[in-house]
Amino acid sequence: MKTYSVHVCRECGATSPRWVGRCPGCAAWNSLDEERTTPRSPSAPLRSAVVALHTLDGDHEQRLSTGVSELDRVLGGGLLEGSTTLLFGEPGVGKSTLALMSLRAQALAGVSVLLIGAEESAPQVAQRARRLGAVPEGLDVATTTSVAVALSLLDERRPRVCVIDSISAMSDEVLASVAGSVPQVRNAAERLCARAKEVGTALILVGHVTKDGELAGPRALEHLVDTVVRIEGDRYGTLRVVRAIKHRFGPTGEVGLLEMVGEGLRDLPETSMALGGGVDVPGVVFTVTNDGSRSFLVEVQALVASSSGSPRRVAHQVSSQRLSLMLAVLESRCDIDVSATDVFAATAGGIAATEPGVDLALALAVASAAAGFSVPRSLVAVGEVGLAGELRAVSGLTRRVREAQRLGATTVLVPTAGELDEVAGLRVHRCASLAEAIGEARR
Ligand code: TYD
Ligand code: MG
Repeated sequence: MKTYSVHVCRECGATSPRWVGRCPGCAAWNSLDEERTTPRSPSAPLRSAVVALHTLDGDHEQRLSTGVSELDRVLGGGLLEGSTTLLFGEPGVGKSTLALMSLRAQALAGVSVLLIGAEESAPQVAQRARRLGAVPEGLDVATTTSVAVALSLLDERRPRVCVIDSISAMSDEVLASVAGSVPQVRNAAERLCARAKEVGTALILVGHVTKDGELAGPRALEHLVDTVVRIEGDRYGTLRVVRAIKHRFGPTGEVGLLEMVGEGLRDLPETSMALGGGVDVPGVVFTVTNDGSRSFLVEVQALVASSSGSPRRVAHQVSSQRLSLMLAVLESRCDIDVSATDVFAATAGGIAATEPGVDLALALAVASAAAGFSVPRSLVAVGEVGLAGELRAVSGLTRRVREAQRLGATTVLVPTAGELDEVAGLRVHRCASLAEAIGEARR
């Protein structure tokens, strides 16, 4: 059979018939690799795809619970028949654990499930399953890296739910490129998703993401699947945040909270974090960030240290752009100069807080570390800081302030701008500028 060549971008999977220096899809430089492929003859006869809408009953919203309530929450109730979901995250974050927990719970509920393990042997999977509790009947695993074998398993067994762990390890003998390359991963996902739709299986593909947060293969898969779920968290911490970043059958932006314990991931309907208890130390300020329909208490920490050589700025779980902005505003509007010192900023507990409402706590944390005063733990600061040093209104202020109070705050520092409902029993300081807020916090 005739082969032809196509150039595929390593970053985003876009294709070009000839080599070009810059990817037409994502504008990355030098990211195209040549692929030789053999065109496949169409296996099914062409048929009309036209359907009279009134003949379809609208109520096929039959969602199948994943058995993990925080995951159901993110998915808007559960999985849909024949739908495809990509579950991705960094190595060690708990993708395999979450997928196996879900299959285990479904097997316990009598749902037919299948795990296709491409990275671990059956005994390894069994060992993991035992950590999660008694292993139910019907929790079946097949180990293969072959797309063809996986397709025939779907055909034969027609499980209601199938997990492929991971899609990055699946390959197709027909393709010349190496396992794990974008064309291999994309081809595997395309064929498996198509077959899952045909047999009515809800398919969950586990995908790896590289350390810098970019999806090597999975980014090329986003448009192929119905739903993309990301699992985030510090692998050395216990908190995990699950979030739908694309969802064809429901809203995105909802977040689920889980905690990694010895027996797998535990639902965490509320963050267990609360104010109070500890001692007040310079460089620590609490805030409440809004994410989806939830509000989280976040501890922002900053450390200012004398620098050897050019000063370093390190931001972990906070935005590095916003940190640079806060440093500039502190210097030019508040006379707090850290231009010659190292500045480290982070959140404790593994929740990322990158939205502008966190600005005030971030700036106060740096100011308090630099000037050596401590901000009481009973104080919660919320607000966006503008370039002129002004405090700007943030979304959902009342919700944030209520959450702060529920978790033990007695004082809040918030912008003068923006609506805030009356909250009884709480000292509310409304400040117009960062300088004013620093003055309030130092008292
Ligand atoms: P894993 O699900 O293998 O991560 P991924 O598939 O995303 O690479 O598990 C990640 C970590 O979780 C691993 O270091 C061990 C830990 N773990 C627990 O703490 N408790 C458990 O019950 C299990 C199964 C794993
Ligand atoms: Mg894994």
